[in-house]
Amino acid sequence: MKRIAIMTSGGDSPGMNPAIRSITRTGLHKGLEIFGIRHGYQGLLDDEFIPLDSHAVSGRIRDAGTFLGTSRCPEFIKEEVQLRALKIMEKRRIDGLVIIGGDGSLTGARALYRYGLPVIGLPGTIDNDLFGTDMGIGVDTALNTIIHLVDMIRATAASHRRCFVVEVMGRGSGYLALMACISTGSQVAVIPEFRMNIPKIVQELDRRSTNNHNASVILVAEGVCQGAEFMQRLVEVGKVKQEVRLTVLGHVQRGGTPTHYDRLLASRMGEMAVLALISGEKGSMVATVNGKMQLRDFDDILDRRKGLPGDAIRLARNIGIEIGDVVES
Ligand code: F6P
Repeated sequence: MKRIAIMTSGGDSPGMNPAIRSITRTGLHKGLEIFGIRHGYQGLLDDEFIPLDSHAVSGRIRDAGTFLGTSRCPEFIKEEVQLRALKIMEKRRIDGLVIIGGDGSLTGARALYRYGLPVIGLPGTIDNDLFGTDMGIGVDTALNTIIHLVDMIRATAASHRRCFVVEVMGRGSGYLALMACISTGSQVAVIPEFRMNIPKIVQELDRRSTNNHNASVILVAEGVCQGAEFMQRLVEVGKVKQEVRLTVLGHVQRGGTPTHYDRLLASRMGEMAVLALISGEKGSMVATVNGKMQLRDFDDILDRRKGLPGDAIRLARNIGIEIGDVVES
């Protein structure tokens, strides 16, 4: 292992930069040459490599986003495209690759590994929907951003005695909505893992109005529907009496300065990725399981659906959050 490359792919997540920094610094410390690939898989196909040294990653621990750039590259699913990428890696004499990204990005990583290239993945997605790791890089920062924004929404909601519907990201997962609901003291989480119960939600809102609670907040995970659609159902089907407003948080959720947790997680995962490549590991993702770092084979973690943590569901129910009904399987 002499030359390794780093790529960030898919949606950016706060902590990608600290991960790149850690991989670079660990690699340099171990006497490796380090290269960054610009703009994800698309940049790989376009042969966009840059050498990385400690100066290139200086100060990056504080920055959100990814200074290497990222992209979504649906065509990487095609075999001929993967082979083109491999040729470029060969030409560049890259011995090992670290890819930071979500499910789709790590599926691409597995394809390259299956052709024989040593690849280590890092879970980089705010959605926290990657099976096999308790946390992904960026989740904590995204949650901190969400709770900061929801706290602000609650202030104006309370002044006007309104109900707010807040749409949060998460793709097919309700993780962000559920966790943010718990830590903002919101009343309802509408999440894809459970079936929403409009009459129950309206009943809860009415109960709160009657009891002189001056604000209610409903977090809607984008994986269920758009916040606007949910609001329409609340008004037209639920005939909610309270005044309702909508806020779609959108991409600000990805733009926060990485928290201590994400800087540390990214640094530890980055270090582990380099050490793993040096020790001959080939096709796995660095994961954190019960606070311990682990390597998990791509084949054991990809194509599997991650459920919500059972203790969070129980907590939500016990503290009175309406999360909907269990979906029959
Ligand atoms: O996967 C991360 C994520 O932020 C999702 O939560 C969201 O659905 C998606 O990316 C948005 O993607 P884009 O930035 O391509 O619009």
